[in-house]
Amino acid sequence: MHDIDKIETVMRYHERTKHHFNRYAPGPGALDWANQPDPFRRYEGAPLVHLPLLAADEEPLSPRYDDLYCPGSVVSATLTLNALSRLLQYALAISAWKQAGATRWALRCNPSSGNLHPTEGYLLIGALPGLADAPGLYHYAPREHAFERRADCGAALFTALMREFPAQAFLVGLSSVHWREAWKYGERAFRYCQHDVGHAIGALRIAAATLGWRAALLQKLADETIEDLLGLNRAEDFAGAEREHPAAVLVVWPAGLAGGRPAGEQRVVPRQLDPELVRQLTRAGWQGAANRLSRDAPVHWEAIDQVAAATRKLAGAEQGFDALDTPAGESPGRAGAGGPAAGQIILQRRSLLACDGRTPIAAERFYRMLSRLMPRCDLPPCRRPMPWDTLPWDAAVHLALFVHRVEGIVPGLYLLVRDPAKVERLKRAMHARFEGSTPPGCPADLTLCLLEAGNAQRLATQLSCHQDIAGDGAFSLGMIAEYRDALFTHGAWFYRRLFWESGLIGQVLYLEAEAAGLRATGIGCFFDEPVHRVFGLEDLAFQSLYHFTVGGPVDDPRLIVG
Ligand SMILES: Cc1cc2nc3c(=O)[nH]c(=O)nc-3n(C[C@H](O)[C@H](O)[C@H](O)COP(=O)(O)O)c2cc1C
Repeated sequence: MHDIDKIETVMRYHERTKHHFNRYAPGPGALDWANQPDPFRRYEGAPLVHLPLLAADEEPLSPRYDDLYCPGSVVSATLTLNALSRLLQYALAISAWKQAGATRWALRCNPSSGNLHPTEGYLLIGALPGLADAPGLYHYAPREHAFERRADCGAALFTALMREFPAQAFLVGLSSVHWREAWKYGERAFRYCQHDVGHAIGALRIAAATLGWRAALLQKLADETIEDLLGLNRAEDFAGAEREHPAAVLVVWPAGLAGGRPAGEQRVVPRQLDPELVRQLTRAGWQGAANRLSRDAPVHWEAIDQVAAATRKLAGAEQGFDALDTPAGESPGRAGAGGPAAGQIILQRRSLLACDGRTPIAAERFYRMLSRLMPRCDLPPCRRPMPWDTLPWDAAVHLALFVHRVEGIVPGLYLLVRDPAKVERLKRAMHARFEGSTPPGCPADLTLCLLEAGNAQRLATQLSCHQDIAGDGAFSLGMIAEYRDALFTHGAWFYRRLFWESGLIGQVLYLEAEAAGLRATGIGCFFDEPVHRVFGLEDLAFQSLYHFTVGGPVDDPRLIVG
């Protein structure tokens, strides 16, 4: 397929999966409960290594939540089995259960549309006491909080693969089982799978930050190389089982402080792996066969297959995104005195099901939340604040806000431009009647402006598929992505990245809401064109990709923590 054909396929998919006031995107209609996919993949026959489930007072201890955003204040943990367990616990593990009648279901640190969890996690790591005395590729099993050892990686191959990364670096891979989301949401599911990848990237980056570690997306990897690395193209291991699509690979490493760079840590971290070396892994000894997730064969959604093929990333597809020039080391920052532990915030994160319709948020807190979404595009990617140092591209997703209850700010529609260089472009694309004044007390580095004052509660609810949570909270928002230009500049594969960036924004906001004593929810269901019309976005330059709400929650009696 030519590049232009791929972009057309993406645009066709995007159009046909829009929800309209009078018609939802094609879906299954009724849910086939008997065929609901299992949210837990296992590789039967692969040896299982349990990870220690650590209590809050066991090493490595969690820093304060606010210290995650204070560069250099979290001392880098040594790579041990316990530290690795913490990483997975805070990123992808089960953190709570819900029960209604006799039915009980698990909830995880990473959120997922419909709690369907299409994202699978993998790890390629060297020898580690308690894990194995030789490098290997593992699949993460959240229910057991354990690794399944899928493949042995020869020590020489591992050293060659990781040669250019900092000492002790390892890889975390993510894949998507589209069927898990498509079972419920039909054609729109591909979007949700990508949001979930973005949330998982955020969960991993933030979990790494609790250990003083860094993480960066290996942006240059072709999808075929990810398949080779994670064993996704091993047809024999997926006989009769639902396949996984390659998503992302992150390199994670313990980062030293200034002057204390671990021996061998290098300055330049590549954003790729040698595909030939990765291919050698496919000839290693593999173990285990994927379990079947649904009783019957998955329902086939042609539009998903087409967009998955069109957005497949080929080798050398991208321009730029070269090596990551890591900072020589951060000067030790001053850890904050108080506030909740990061681990506590991460483990208590939940989606709200209903807002109380009254809890406000102070303007100062609101501004601080929004500040944490600013990637500082004037800095090189590696020097951007956590977690924006993970993604190598400049911000392409901005926020159209429905402000309901922020003390000291008039209610109404607001715009947050996450890359100040794009303020004028966005304003020109929106209604000419919008005002553009800066709200009182807004910090200078926050490109936030009022578009129109007024009560937007009913409007927000209507636009988010009539979901009250969008109108009853303190504020809600639509994530407005640079769409057409991003696809033509980078290629059709970048479509998925736009959703990843949106998911990462959502993950930061989820935790920010918990830290502020509030709660949040990602909103995948919204009426696309009506949202665009409200803001005056007339063509395909910008598209809303994800909605989100933050407010005072009503307790969910079904929740069982721990
Ligand atoms: C991409 C995405 C879209 C979502 N869309 C909605 C939505 O439209 N309405 C809603 O009530 N919850 C929505 N949620 C919240 C999920 O239902 C929730 O994350 C899931 O049930 C797991 O619960 P937890 O977040 O408490 O772990 C969404 C979550 C994600 C990640």
